[in-house]
Amino acid sequence: MEKRNILITGGAGFIGSHVVRLFVHKYPNYNIYNLDKLTYAGNLANLKDIETKPNYHFIKEDICNFESILNIFKTCNIDGVIHLAAESHVDRSIKDPFTFASTNVLGTLSLLQAAKNTWQNFEDKLFYHISTDEVYGALKMDNPTGGDEPGGGPYGGEFFTENTKYDPHSPYSASKASSDHFVRAFYDTYGLPTVISNCSNNYGPYQFPEKLIPLFINNIRHGKPLPVYGKGENVRDWLFVEDHARAIDIIFHKGKKGETYNIGGFNEWKNIDLIKQLIKTTDELLGNPLHHSDSLIQYVTDRQGHDLRYAIDSNKLKRELGWQPSLQFEQGLKITVQWYLDNQDWLDNVVSGQYLDYYRDMYGNR
Ligand code: NAD
Ligand code: DAU
Repeated sequence: MEKRNILITGGAGFIGSHVVRLFVHKYPNYNIYNLDKLTYAGNLANLKDIETKPNYHFIKEDICNFESILNIFKTCNIDGVIHLAAESHVDRSIKDPFTFASTNVLGTLSLLQAAKNTWQNFEDKLFYHISTDEVYGALKMDNPTGGDEPGGGPYGGEFFTENTKYDPHSPYSASKASSDHFVRAFYDTYGLPTVISNCSNNYGPYQFPEKLIPLFINNIRHGKPLPVYGKGENVRDWLFVEDHARAIDIIFHKGKKGETYNIGGFNEWKNIDLIKQLIKTTDELLGNPLHHSDSLIQYVTDRQGHDLRYAIDSNKLKRELGWQPSLQFEQGLKITVQWYLDNQDWLDNVVSGQYLDYYRDMYGNR
């Protein structure tokens, strides 16, 4: 099997940890370098099960630190990059857009420039940038009531395709859109071998409990209010995180350079329907009576600039590279809720921020 040195950025985060785990297990001949700054969202406990594998290496570094990144490319002889490191939470971007511009735009630029400067020739090299469907803006809701079944949609005829015009609305999506433009600019200008994928909402184990699903599972567990933004009418397209990691593997190995691939679940849910399903599943697994936690729902002020509907058309990825989602949502949700209930120490540590002190002691605080 071919030997490779792959740099995965943001590998201590939610999706990154699933990608690192998949690659470490599936490709024992690859050296996997997980480069992560360990912000509040980075947690090495997400990778406890693989941290002693001989092909796994952790590097604590900030992607914005260009000189260090350049040095890592040279000393580790990096020939492939899977770039996930980012500030990822929309609500935080509304409060602090500068951090998003810095990490998501300048950090991506720093990695691109390091790859361009280090790679003598571009044969057998790849810079794979992980992006989001939010760069495309928001879709209309032609059919607000959806299908007969909750989550059965469709809420509208339009989907995001790879040709949809960029129209980001939040500082987060604007920063991701900008990073996508830089990646394409490096392909067009220097011929740097790049590929981009834009994925819909992920859910599953190890997601930071500021995001809807883990936050609400944790709140149901503690009998705390469930803050539903606006009327809960917004629609998201949900994908199990391991299906995303599988898509990333396929695109990294078989994707065409210069191309973009959309990844999604064909699984649209109105927030309020999803929340009711989540309450039902969580109550069931906790042994509570049906509807026990319904009263925790609280409608709160809407998110500023809240995008109405996201829905991905991932047919190109299916047609050209043979990927499709493997799990039904109800099944994935049950696995996810069970995981958080079985891993309450992980959840408690993350909520209390204890893991930050632990890794600060271990790796220093910079
Ligand atoms: P996350 O917030 O859980 O993890 C981000 C990781 O990046 C953390 O480990 C953090 O420590 C690290 N990081 C942040 N700033 C850094 C810096 N300056 N230098 C090095 N490391 C840094 O994010 P996630 O949800 O796993 O998302 C990963 C990627 O996938 C992001 O690029 C995001 O835009 C994209 N994405 C996420 C979703 C989703 O639903 N979560 C969907 C589509 C695309
Ligand atoms: O679409 C892909 C994107 O999905 C990723 O690029 C982002 O990194 C990821 O965070 C996610 O963005 P969202 O804003 O869609 O995810 P979030 O979990 O924050 O919210 C999902 C929906 O639930 C959204 O419509 C807002 C709503 N919401 C969220 C929270 C945290 C609530 O109603 N209440 C809440 O407390």
